[in-house]
Amino acid sequence: MAGDFFADALPAADAYVLMEIRHDWADAECVAILSAVRRAAPRGATVLVVESILSDAEPDPRGRTLDIVMLAVTGGRERTAGELATLFERAGLSPGPVVDTGGPLRIAEATAV
Ligand SMILES: C[S@@+](CC[C@H](N)C(=O)[O-])C[C@H]1O[C@@H](n2cnc3c(N)ncnc32)[C@H](O)[C@@H]1O
Repeated sequence: MAGDFFADALPAADAYVLMEIRHDWADAECVAILSAVRRAAPRGATVLVVESILSDAEPDPRGRTLDIVMLAVTGGRERTAGELATLFERAGLSPGPVVDTGGPLRIAEATAV
């Protein structure tokens, strides 16, 4: 379904996948996107964010480099799992686990509460 996640109502669904969406945006726009998901999501729906999530413990140079690129090109940024959790909470979503994929992307899970 085509649409503008800043302007259009999103469909109700059991799960929402946002792959490399949030890193395009500053925090305020990320919260707006996640809030649009939360307004549409039934209680218990799952939200999966697939991104190059930064690790404080083991900084991956690919994510750090992409962080600079996103800032320069879109005004967005890469984020740590903790920073993503804060954005989830600001949008009324409950942060869950962050899952490694074996590749450069990781999956941050949240639930509509
Ligand atoms: C970095 S791309 C990621 C695309 C895809 N998820 C992927 O991983 O290949 C960001 C996407 O956000 C979409 N996008 C940007 N602004 C949007 C808006 N206001 N409403 C809906 N989609 C938007 C763009 O069209 C683009 O497809």
